[in-house]
Amino acid sequence: MTMRRISTTVCLLTLAAAAVAQPIEPEKLHTMIEALTRLGPDAVNANPRLQDALGKVLAATRGTPQFVAFVQQFKIAGQNAGLIEVAARHPADEAGVSALRLVLASGDTVLLTAALKGKDTSAATKLVEALGNTGAKQLPALLLPLVTDTQRELPLRKQAVRALARTQDGAGGLLKLAGEDKLPADLKFTASAELNAVRWPELKAEAAKLLPLPPGQGDKALPPVAELLAMRGDAKRGAEVFSRETVGCAKCHVVNGQGVDFGPALSEIGSKLGKDALLESILDPSAGISFGFEAWTIETKSGEEIFGLLVSETGEDVSVKTVGGAVTKLKKSDVAKRHPSKLSSMPAGLQQAITVQELADLLDYLGTLKKK
Ligand code: HEC
Repeated sequence: MTMRRISTTVCLLTLAAAAVAQPIEPEKLHTMIEALTRLGPDAVNANPRLQDALGKVLAATRGTPQFVAFVQQFKIAGQNAGLIEVAARHPADEAGVSALRLVLASGDTVLLTAALKGKDTSAATKLVEALGNTGAKQLPALLLPLVTDTQRELPLRKQAVRALARTQDGAGGLLKLAGEDKLPADLKFTASAELNAVRWPELKAEAAKLLPLPPGQGDKALPPVAELLAMRGDAKRGAEVFSRETVGCAKCHVVNGQGVDFGPALSEIGSKLGKDALLESILDPSAGISFGFEAWTIETKSGEEIFGLLVSETGEDVSVKTVGGAVTKLKKSDVAKRHPSKLSSMPAGLQQAITVQELADLLDYLGTLKKK
């Protein structure tokens, strides 16, 4: 570029930048971006006025992919906050993933760690997703603490498991937790589904031992979860499976007024849970017990043991709903001990009563139960 062109561009940029107490008009911003890009880092960094213009462009593009491109091209330090913003907004796009790579390359993960620990769970979950897409070597250090922090929200922790399973070190870290019996129960299904599908043969073999997928009919291994989810089902046959006596879903769940009212009604479950969450509800009921449906074991002084859902409690009585839907009212003075169960009152292993195709049909059926 000739000196003259540089100086005209500088002039143009200074004019544009001067006008920027208010937001830059889109057209002007476009011109500034073009000019700066053309001049390149060397020319811009050598000129304070151009640097000023660059600062303004950064401010105006904050939160967008363009911002990331600028930080990258001009190697601008100290932009981690803005980069993290983009990553939380575009976790599955190149811009968001590049943004996090720049943050990680800066060697300063203070802000990132704070965002992962922060109260904004939805942003933290997106950042974890973006981190998984970077495949960075820092994944275990950043994400394993989230996995074991059972105070944090389940969707965030599940996302951390999925992200970790994408790198060899991350998958290894998860298996180590499992081997030491430190992998929280509510993540075992997700970890099992992810780790049984990793591409590293040794880790995969270890996963099959430590975190086997639940068996299907006749104790045969079920296909990998991704394959199950991709199968086509027939909702009509699924409805038949649901109410089949030997499967028993309708003995505990009401759908559109039919069935026994024990567990949550499922008439709108297809609006609440995606296919993967539905599958998890069946294959590992204890993984994410629905609020208000925690099971309790109550021992009476006369030696009975009652297992069911606590439906009401007064000063004197406590009422327990047992499988089948019957409510038993007990005098508290008759209760010797009571404690919450870690296990759901929905039994695991129901898929063993049906074929793989019937499981796919059932999933399809549940997916059709939507809010009207
Ligand atoms: C013995 C009773 C029982 C049986 C049998 C049973 N469930 Fe459940 N189910 C429950 C209870 C209790 C819950 C709530 C606690 C939990 O989430 O684990 C539940 C939860 C669920 C959920 C999650 C609901 C939500 O709102 O998040 C789904 C989906 C589900 N069951 C589907 C099924 C299907 C499909 C079958 C048949 C294959 C079945 N259940 C059989 C008792 C049962």
